[in-house]
Amino acid sequence: MGRVLSRDDEAVSDREFELTDQDFRFIQWFMHKHAGIYFSDRKRTMVYGRISRQLRRLGLNRFTDYKQLIEQDSEERVGFINSLTTNKTQFFREYHHFEFLENVMFKEWEKQGLKNINVWSAGCSTGEEPYSFASSLFVKKAFDLFQVQIHATDLDTKVLSHAKQGIYSDEAIASIPVKYLQPCFFKGKGAQQGKIKVAKGLQNYINFQQLNLLDEWKWKEPFDLISCRNVMIYFDKQTQEKLISRFYQQLKPHGILFLGHSESVGSCSDLFRHLGKTIYLKQ
Ligand SMILES: C[S@@+](CC[C@H](N)C(=O)[O-])C[C@H]1O[C@@H](n2cnc3c(N)ncnc32)[C@H](O)[C@@H]1O
Repeated sequence: MGRVLSRDDEAVSDREFELTDQDFRFIQWFMHKHAGIYFSDRKRTMVYGRISRQLRRLGLNRFTDYKQLIEQDSEERVGFINSLTTNKTQFFREYHHFEFLENVMFKEWEKQGLKNINVWSAGCSTGEEPYSFASSLFVKKAFDLFQVQIHATDLDTKVLSHAKQGIYSDEAIASIPVKYLQPCFFKGKGAQQGKIKVAKGLQNYINFQQLNLLDEWKWKEPFDLISCRNVMIYFDKQTQEKLISRFYQQLKPHGILFLGHSESVGSCSDLFRHLGKTIYLKQ
């Protein structure tokens, strides 16, 4: 099965489905064009694994047949993109950002006498990140002091529907510091045994919506905080730089940008002051 074009392909040719060099080039091109995501040749085995699940579901043997479906059927195209995104996340990931929000930003907002706080979790995956921001703001009683709006967006429609439900396996508790557990999460009972649920009151502050970061943004208000963590690592340098300068435009004066631990503002360093730990202040 399959053409043997390279050492890498030899391994692929023995497998269940055919994914030729040409197919892989198409996937690289497609994901870069539609999502900004760049798959190097080293990611081929990972891509194969993810695509295999789609082919198995549809009873297809060759990627070429799936490609035709993707080109004709918009729903299948969405499923294809969803299958190739990396959605790993957890509550209070990179906790120093939440400490900064509570101990530095919160005080600054109070000092400035702000009335409205606008937060954007860009690339929110299954929702743990925006719910963590909401929990952080809740324990600081921010909802009593300010009009808070948290926008949470992702390209992947599947993770977004999970995020909207706000229900997680109780294994997630391990990453939630105790002070947030009791006021912000409920343990499931009956059919929801072994699960936790985000408090309804907190969910109401979050507006989840699908957004491809490469597309036009139609935000009405600028943001006090934009968190785009562990998203740009999947993008090529040019896409990253374009995005950073768009985030700059979208922030209020002295707004804050959080990036993931292995990300930086790169060549846009004159637009921001680095406060350490991938926290950037708009200059
Ligand atoms: C690894 S998760 C990061 C989740 C969370 N921010 C965190 O740090 O835990 C990356 C998310 O970025 C999303 N993503 C990838 N490309 C995107 C794009 N072009 N537009 C919007 N979201 C995108 C993926 O669907 C995925 O859910």
